[in-house]
Amino acid sequence: MIKWTILALAVPLLAACSGPQSILDPAGPAARQVATVWWFMFGVASVVWVGVSLLWIYALARKPRHTSAKQARAINRRWVISGGIVLPTVSIILLLLFGVPTGRSMIPLPVEGQDPLVIEVTGHQWWWEVHYPESGVTTANQFIVPVGRPLDVHLTSADVIHSFWVPRLGGKRDMVPGRIHEIRLEASHAGVFRGQCSEFCGAQHTRMILHVEALEPEGFDTWLSERQSFASPALPPGAAGEEFRDTCGQCHRVAGITEGARAPDLTDLASRPTLGAGTLENDSEGLRRWLREHQDIKAGNAMPAHDDIDDDILEQIAAWLETLAP
Ligand code: CUA
Repeated sequence: MIKWTILALAVPLLAACSGPQSILDPAGPAARQVATVWWFMFGVASVVWVGVSLLWIYALARKPRHTSAKQARAINRRWVISGGIVLPTVSIILLLLFGVPTGRSMIPLPVEGQDPLVIEVTGHQWWWEVHYPESGVTTANQFIVPVGRPLDVHLTSADVIHSFWVPRLGGKRDMVPGRIHEIRLEASHAGVFRGQCSEFCGAQHTRMILHVEALEPEGFDTWLSERQSFASPALPPGAAGEEFRDTCGQCHRVAGITEGARAPDLTDLASRPTLGAGTLENDSEGLRRWLREHQDIKAGNAMPAHDDIDDDILEQIAAWLETLAP
Protein backbone atom coordinates (compact mmCIF):
# COMPACT_ATOMS: atom_id res chain seq x y z
CA MET A 1 0.00 0.00 0.00
CA ILE A 2 2.78 2.44 1.02
CA LYS A 3 4.72 1.51 -2.13
CA TRP A 4 1.70 2.41 -4.32
CA THR A 5 1.12 5.66 -2.43
CA ILE A 6 4.75 6.74 -3.01
CA LEU A 7 4.48 5.76 -6.69
CA ALA A 8 1.20 7.69 -7.10
CA LEU A 9 2.86 10.78 -5.63
CA ALA A 10 6.07 10.42 -7.65
CA VAL A 11 4.48 10.03 -11.09
CA PRO A 12 3.07 13.59 -11.32
CA LEU A 13 6.36 14.92 -9.98
CA LEU A 14 8.36 13.23 -12.72
CA ALA A 15 5.95 13.70 -15.62
CA ALA A 16 4.94 16.97 -17.29
CA CYS A 17 7.80 19.08 -15.92
CA SER A 18 9.18 19.66 -19.41
CA GLY A 19 8.15 19.22 -23.03
CA PRO A 20 6.48 21.42 -25.66
CA GLN A 21 3.18 21.66 -23.77
CA SER A 22 4.18 21.82 -20.10
CA ILE A 23 2.92 24.63 -17.88
CA LEU A 24 5.93 23.91 -15.64
CA ASP A 25 8.37 24.91 -18.39
CA PRO A 26 7.28 28.52 -19.01
CA ALA A 27 8.52 30.44 -22.06
CA GLY A 28 6.97 33.82 -21.27
CA PRO A 29 5.98 36.13 -18.39
CA ALA A 30 2.28 35.09 -18.28
CA ALA A 31 3.23 31.40 -18.26
CA ARG A 32 5.82 32.07 -15.55
CA GLN A 33 3.09 33.50 -13.31
CA VAL A 34 0.86 30.49 -13.98
CA ALA A 35 3.74 28.17 -13.07
CA THR A 36 4.37 30.15 -9.85
CA VAL A 37 0.70 29.80 -8.89
CA TRP A 38 0.90 26.05 -9.67
CA TRP A 39 3.95 25.56 -7.43
CA PHE A 40 2.38 27.65 -4.68
CA MET A 41 -0.83 25.58 -4.83
CA PHE A 42 1.28 22.42 -4.85
CA GLY A 43 3.10 23.69 -1.72
CA VAL A 44 -0.14 24.55 0.10
CA ALA A 45 -1.69 21.21 -0.87
CA SER A 46 1.44 19.36 0.31
CA VAL A 47 1.35 21.10 3.70
CA VAL A 48 -2.37 20.25 4.08
CA TRP A 49 -1.70 16.63 3.06
CA VAL A 50 1.18 16.24 5.53
CA GLY A 51 -0.89 17.87 8.30
CA VAL A 52 -3.90 15.60 7.70
CA SER A 53 -1.64 12.52 7.55
CA LEU A 54 0.02 13.43 10.87
CA LEU A 55 -3.39 13.94 12.51
CA TRP A 56 -4.54 10.61 11.14
CA ILE A 57 -1.47 8.85 12.57
CA TYR A 58 -1.97 10.66 15.89
CA ALA A 59 -5.64 9.59 16.01
CA LEU A 60 -4.66 5.97 15.40
CA ALA A 61 -1.78 5.95 17.89
CA ARG A 62 -3.11 7.88 20.88
CA LYS A 63 -4.51 6.12 23.88
CA PRO A 64 -8.21 6.62 24.59
CA ARG A 65 -8.87 9.40 27.09
CA HIS A 66 -11.95 9.50 29.25
CA THR A 67 -13.69 12.83 28.77
CA SER A 68 -17.14 13.99 29.70
CA ALA A 69 -19.66 14.66 26.92
CA LYS A 70 -19.30 18.39 27.56
CA GLN A 71 -15.49 18.28 27.25
CA ALA A 72 -15.78 16.20 24.06
CA ARG A 73 -18.12 18.80 22.52
CA ALA A 74 -15.66 21.60 23.35
CA ILE A 75 -12.77 19.67 21.76
CA ASN A 76 -14.85 18.90 18.66
CA ARG A 77 -15.85 22.56 18.31
CA ARG A 78 -12.20 23.63 18.46
CA TRP A 79 -11.31 21.20 15.66
CA VAL A 80 -14.25 22.27 13.49
CA ILE A 81 -13.40 25.97 13.88
CA SER A 82 -9.64 25.64 13.34
CA GLY A 83 -9.59 22.85 10.72
CA GLY A 84 -12.91 23.47 9.00
CA ILE A 85 -13.15 27.29 8.94
CA VAL A 86 -9.85 29.05 9.78
CA LEU A 87 -7.50 26.82 7.76
CA PRO A 88 -9.56 26.78 4.50
CA THR A 89 -10.24 30.54 4.75
CA VAL A 90 -6.53 31.35 5.17
CA SER A 91 -5.54 28.96 2.34
CA ILE A 92 -8.16 30.32 -0.07
CA ILE A 93 -7.26 33.96 0.67
CA LEU A 94 -3.57 33.18 0.08
CA LEU A 95 -4.41 31.45 -3.22
CA LEU A 96 -6.59 34.39 -4.30
CA LEU A 97 -3.74 36.82 -3.54
CA PHE A 98 -1.61 34.80 -5.98
CA GLY A 99 -4.29 33.87 -8.52
CA VAL A 100 -6.11 37.17 -9.15
CA PRO A 101 -3.00 39.16 -10.24
CA THR A 102 -2.01 36.26 -12.52
CA GLY A 103 -5.38 36.37 -14.28
CA ARG A 104 -5.19 40.18 -14.52
CA SER A 105 -1.72 40.04 -16.06
CA MET A 106 -3.26 38.35 -19.12
CA ILE A 107 -5.83 41.11 -19.72
CA PRO A 108 -4.59 43.28 -22.60
CA LEU A 109 -4.44 46.70 -20.93
CA PRO A 110 -2.44 49.48 -22.63
CA VAL A 111 1.09 49.72 -21.24
CA GLU A 112 3.24 52.81 -21.75
CA GLY A 113 5.99 52.24 -24.30
CA GLN A 114 4.68 48.87 -25.47
CA ASP A 115 3.45 48.12 -28.96
CA PRO A 116 1.56 44.84 -28.83
CA LEU A 117 1.13 42.76 -31.98
CA VAL A 118 -2.52 41.90 -32.64
CA ILE A 119 -3.17 38.37 -33.88
CA GLU A 120 -6.70 37.14 -34.60
CA VAL A 121 -7.33 33.46 -34.02
CA THR A 122 -10.62 31.82 -35.01
CA GLY A 123 -11.50 28.30 -33.89
CA HIS A 124 -13.17 25.95 -36.35
CA GLN A 125 -14.14 22.28 -36.11
CA TRP A 126 -11.27 21.26 -36.03
CA TRP A 127 -8.58 23.70 -37.03
CA TRP A 128 -7.23 27.17 -36.29
CA GLU A 129 -7.45 30.22 -38.54
CA VAL A 130 -4.67 32.69 -37.75
CA HIS A 131 -4.73 36.22 -39.13
CA TYR A 132 -2.26 39.11 -38.73
CA PRO A 133 -4.49 42.17 -39.37
CA GLU A 134 -1.66 44.73 -39.63
CA SER A 135 0.00 42.90 -42.50
CA GLY A 136 -3.05 41.13 -43.96
CA VAL A 137 -1.38 37.70 -43.72
CA THR A 138 -3.55 34.65 -43.02
CA THR A 139 -2.36 31.15 -42.23
CA ALA A 140 -3.77 28.09 -40.50
CA ASN A 141 -2.82 25.78 -37.66
CA GLN A 142 0.42 27.63 -36.99
CA PHE A 143 0.90 30.55 -34.64
CA ILE A 144 4.17 32.28 -35.46
CA VAL A 145 5.16 35.07 -33.06
CA PRO A 146 8.08 37.40 -32.42
CA VAL A 147 10.16 37.05 -29.24
CA GLY A 148 9.96 39.87 -26.70
CA ARG A 149 6.88 41.68 -27.99
CA PRO A 150 3.51 41.53 -26.22
CA LEU A 151 0.86 39.69 -28.25
CA ASP A 152 -2.78 40.73 -28.02
CA VAL A 153 -4.55 37.62 -29.21
CA HIS A 154 -8.17 38.20 -30.27
CA LEU A 155 -10.12 34.97 -30.03
CA THR A 156 -13.41 33.92 -31.54
CA SER A 157 -15.07 30.86 -33.05
CA ALA A 158 -16.85 30.13 -36.31
CA ASP A 159 -19.00 27.30 -34.94
CA VAL A 160 -18.92 25.84 -31.41
CA ILE A 161 -16.96 26.83 -28.29
CA HIS A 162 -13.25 26.06 -28.51
CA SER A 163 -10.50 27.11 -26.13
CA PHE A 164 -7.11 28.57 -27.00
CA TRP A 165 -4.28 27.26 -24.86
CA VAL A 166 -0.54 27.40 -25.38
CA PRO A 167 0.60 26.27 -21.92
CA ARG A 168 4.21 27.45 -22.32
CA LEU A 169 3.04 30.99 -23.16
CA GLY A 170 0.22 31.45 -20.63
CA GLY A 171 -3.30 30.68 -19.53
CA LYS A 172 -6.17 29.60 -21.73
CA ARG A 173 -9.26 31.45 -22.93
CA ASP A 174 -12.47 30.21 -24.45
CA MET A 175 -13.30 31.01 -28.08
CA VAL A 176 -17.02 31.73 -28.25
CA PRO A 177 -19.02 32.28 -31.46
CA GLY A 178 -20.16 35.91 -31.81
CA ARG A 179 -17.76 37.22 -29.17
CA ILE A 180 -14.16 38.37 -29.17
CA HIS A 181 -12.12 37.40 -26.13
CA GLU A 182 -8.65 38.83 -25.68
CA ILE A 183 -5.58 37.48 -23.98
CA ARG A 184 -2.11 39.01 -23.70
CA LEU A 185 0.82 36.66 -24.10
CA GLU A 186 4.51 37.04 -24.77
CA ALA A 187 7.33 34.70 -25.70
CA SER A 188 10.56 35.43 -23.87
CA HIS A 189 12.74 33.16 -25.97
CA ALA A 190 12.72 31.49 -29.37
CA GLY A 191 11.42 27.95 -29.64
CA VAL A 192 8.73 25.59 -30.82
CA PHE A 193 5.79 25.06 -28.48
CA ARG A 194 2.48 23.32 -28.76
CA GLY A 195 -1.04 24.60 -28.36
CA GLN A 196 -4.12 22.47 -27.98
CA CYS A 197 -7.84 23.19 -28.09
CA SER A 198 -8.86 22.72 -24.48
CA GLU A 199 -12.65 22.79 -24.67
CA PHE A 200 -14.37 19.66 -25.95
CA CYS A 201 -15.65 20.67 -29.40
CA GLY A 202 -16.65 17.44 -31.08
CA ALA A 203 -15.29 14.11 -32.27
CA GLN A 204 -11.88 15.42 -33.38
CA HIS A 205 -11.23 17.79 -30.47
CA THR A 206 -7.94 16.01 -29.73
CA ARG A 207 -6.76 16.60 -33.31
CA MET A 208 -7.02 20.36 -32.94
CA ILE A 209 -3.37 21.07 -32.31
CA LEU A 210 -1.64 24.40 -32.89
CA HIS A 211 2.01 24.58 -33.94
CA VAL A 212 3.50 27.55 -32.08
CA GLU A 213 6.85 29.00 -33.01
CA ALA A 214 8.55 32.02 -31.46
CA LEU A 215 11.09 33.63 -33.79
CA GLU A 216 13.63 36.38 -33.11
CA PRO A 217 12.14 39.73 -34.29
CA GLU A 218 14.14 39.82 -37.56
CA GLY A 219 13.15 36.23 -38.35
CA PHE A 220 9.51 37.05 -37.65
CA ASP A 221 9.60 40.15 -39.89
CA THR A 222 11.08 38.03 -42.67
CA TRP A 223 8.41 35.35 -42.14
CA LEU A 224 5.67 37.96 -42.42
CA SER A 225 7.07 39.93 -45.37
CA GLU A 226 7.74 36.74 -47.35
CA ARG A 227 4.06 35.96 -47.08
CA GLN A 228 2.99 39.48 -47.98
CA SER A 229 5.01 39.47 -51.20
CA PHE A 230 4.50 35.82 -52.19
CA ALA A 231 2.88 35.32 -55.59
CA SER A 232 1.03 32.00 -55.73
CA PRO A 233 2.22 29.70 -58.53
CA ALA A 234 -0.27 29.23 -61.38
CA LEU A 235 -2.72 26.34 -61.16
CA PRO A 236 -1.78 23.18 -63.06
CA PRO A 237 -3.17 23.35 -66.62
CA GLY A 238 -6.23 21.37 -67.71
CA ALA A 239 -8.53 19.21 -65.62
CA ALA A 240 -6.46 19.30 -62.40
CA GLY A 241 -6.49 23.10 -62.29
CA GLU A 242 -10.21 23.18 -63.04
CA GLU A 243 -10.90 20.61 -60.34
CA PHE A 244 -9.03 22.67 -57.76
CA ARG A 245 -10.65 25.95 -58.78
CA ASP A 246 -14.21 24.64 -59.07
CA THR A 247 -14.22 22.22 -56.13
CA CYS A 248 -11.44 22.83 -53.57
CA GLY A 249 -11.41 26.58 -54.24
CA GLN A 250 -15.04 26.92 -53.15
CA CYS A 251 -13.86 26.49 -49.55
CA HIS A 252 -10.09 27.07 -49.62
CA ARG A 253 -8.39 30.36 -50.37
CA VAL A 254 -5.09 30.56 -52.20
CA ALA A 255 -4.07 34.22 -52.55
CA GLY A 256 -4.66 35.41 -56.11
CA ILE A 257 -6.13 32.07 -57.21
CA THR A 258 -9.28 31.18 -55.23
CA GLU A 259 -11.33 32.99 -52.61
CA GLY A 260 -12.99 30.24 -50.52
CA ALA A 261 -13.36 31.22 -46.88
CA ARG A 262 -14.78 28.19 -45.04
CA ALA A 263 -11.69 26.00 -44.90
CA PRO A 264 -8.02 26.61 -44.10
CA ASP A 265 -6.27 29.23 -46.25
CA LEU A 266 -3.73 27.24 -48.30
CA THR A 267 -1.55 30.15 -49.51
CA ASP A 268 1.52 29.02 -47.49
CA LEU A 269 0.45 25.38 -47.03
CA ALA A 270 3.77 23.79 -48.01
CA SER A 271 5.64 25.80 -45.36
CA ARG A 272 3.59 24.37 -42.49
CA PRO A 273 4.93 21.52 -40.39
CA THR A 274 1.71 19.51 -40.17
CA LEU A 275 -1.56 18.76 -41.95
CA GLY A 276 -5.03 18.49 -40.44
CA ALA A 277 -4.07 20.66 -37.41
CA GLY A 278 -1.27 18.47 -36.13
CA THR A 279 -2.70 15.20 -37.46
CA LEU A 280 -0.02 14.25 -40.05
CA GLU A 281 3.51 15.32 -40.91
CA ASN A 282 3.38 17.71 -43.86
CA ASP A 283 5.69 15.81 -46.20
CA SER A 284 5.21 14.26 -49.62
CA GLU A 285 3.69 11.06 -48.23
CA GLY A 286 1.61 12.83 -45.58
CA LEU A 287 0.06 15.20 -48.12
CA ARG A 288 -0.99 12.37 -50.45
CA ARG A 289 -2.37 10.30 -47.56
CA TRP A 290 -4.28 13.32 -46.32
CA LEU A 291 -5.84 14.02 -49.72
CA ARG A 292 -6.94 10.38 -50.15
CA GLU A 293 -7.69 9.20 -46.62
CA HIS A 294 -8.51 12.30 -44.59
CA GLN A 295 -11.99 10.99 -43.71
CA ASP A 296 -10.42 7.78 -42.33
CA ILE A 297 -7.64 9.64 -40.52
CA LYS A 298 -9.77 12.48 -39.08
CA ALA A 299 -13.35 11.30 -39.47
CA GLY A 300 -16.08 13.93 -39.66
CA ASN A 301 -13.85 16.82 -40.78
CA ALA A 302 -15.65 19.23 -43.10
CA MET A 303 -13.73 18.28 -46.27
CA PRO A 304 -15.67 15.77 -48.40
CA ALA A 305 -13.97 12.50 -49.38
CA HIS A 306 -12.16 12.64 -52.73
CA ASP A 307 -13.17 9.17 -53.94
CA ASP A 308 -14.53 10.58 -57.20
CA ILE A 309 -11.28 12.30 -58.19
CA ASP A 310 -8.92 10.34 -60.48
CA ASP A 311 -5.49 9.44 -59.16
CA ASP A 312 -3.58 11.42 -61.79
CA ILE A 313 -5.65 14.56 -61.18
CA LEU A 314 -5.18 14.27 -57.43
CA GLU A 315 -1.45 13.73 -57.98
CA GLN A 316 -1.21 16.91 -60.07
CA ILE A 317 -3.08 18.86 -57.39
CA ALA A 318 -0.77 17.43 -54.69
CA ALA A 319 2.32 18.38 -56.69
CA TRP A 320 0.99 21.93 -57.09
CA LEU A 321 0.08 22.20 -53.38
CA GLU A 322 3.71 21.33 -52.60
CA THR A 323 4.80 24.54 -54.35
CA LEU A 324 2.65 26.77 -52.11
CA ALA A 325 5.47 28.12 -49.97
CA PRO A 326 7.12 31.55 -49.93
CU1 CUA B 1 -11.79 22.84 -30.59
CU2 CUA B 1 -11.77 21.31 -28.81
